[in-house]
Amino acid sequence: MAPQPDNADHDPIALVDWYRSAGVDIAVGEKPVDRFAAQAARRAAPARPAAQRTLPDRDNRPGREPAARMPAPPTPNSPALKAGQADMTPDDARAIAASARTLEDLREKLEAFDGCGLKFSATQLVFSDGNPQARIMLVGEAPGREEDLQGKPFVGRSGHLLDRMLGAIGLDRTRVYIANSVPWRPPGNRAPTPVETELCLPFLRRQIELVRPEILVTLGGPAANAVFGEHIAITRARGQWRDLTIGDHHMRALMMLHPAFFLRQPASKRNAWRDLLSLKKAMEAHDDATHSPT
Ligand code: URA
Repeated sequence: MAPQPDNADHDPIALVDWYRSAGVDIAVGEKPVDRFAAQAARRAAPARPAAQRTLPDRDNRPGREPAARMPAPPTPNSPALKAGQADMTPDDARAIAASARTLEDLREKLEAFDGCGLKFSATQLVFSDGNPQARIMLVGEAPGREEDLQGKPFVGRSGHLLDRMLGAIGLDRTRVYIANSVPWRPPGNRAPTPVETELCLPFLRRQIELVRPEILVTLGGPAANAVFGEHIAITRARGQWRDLTIGDHHMRALMMLHPAFFLRQPASKRNAWRDLLSLKKAMEAHDDATHSPT
């Protein structure tokens, strides 16, 4: 990480930029805050006439800790403030996602969705890559820097390795569809928070319903946690198959480690190979079952 700028004392913008490059996108207190409960309370309160409504001061919003020592984002249009204004709950996200009839419609609804603050620090939405008619759908965690710049999932180092892994069993991006649990890059490549993941999850679930893959492959623990809605110890669970139903669509799902893990621990690549062979076998078994004479 770059050292703190020399002019940090005199130039708060330089200091804020430095924090943002380190992945800090909001100034918070030291105690956890249940923002969904705070939103529910605000919604339950009788509406004031529009003329009386003012934007709550960042530190006086319900449940907010007193001013933290970290510098606040510099302008009233800062990402965190915009995200707070959107006031969306996972139920809102579910209703919006459920109303999408096609993948293009879902993409447009996600572009217009202001409920997840990551949207405001990301360059653009990273919705998908590959073939929406594919039999196999891969789900990663969240875009990184390259994905954020290009607007496509898995185009950085992990993506290049993923392409080679797919190539080893005769697949490429014309034969798979790729998306992420969270479609905007978290600043500084930090992990998405549980709230961010929960707000984006209805869109991923609808995306899976619309693609209707025969086989869904989760890449890494966070993707498996999001898809299966439980905590999964991925180093033990990798290679396991499950039945998965989302909406009215039933499919088989395989849990794999994330390609970034193989980049960090090349010795574990033999596990990738085992899981890829298992994926290939499942595809062939499905082909045999669908083409066998009755
Ligand atoms: N890692 C992910 O999980 N998704 C991407 O799109 C890129 C890297």
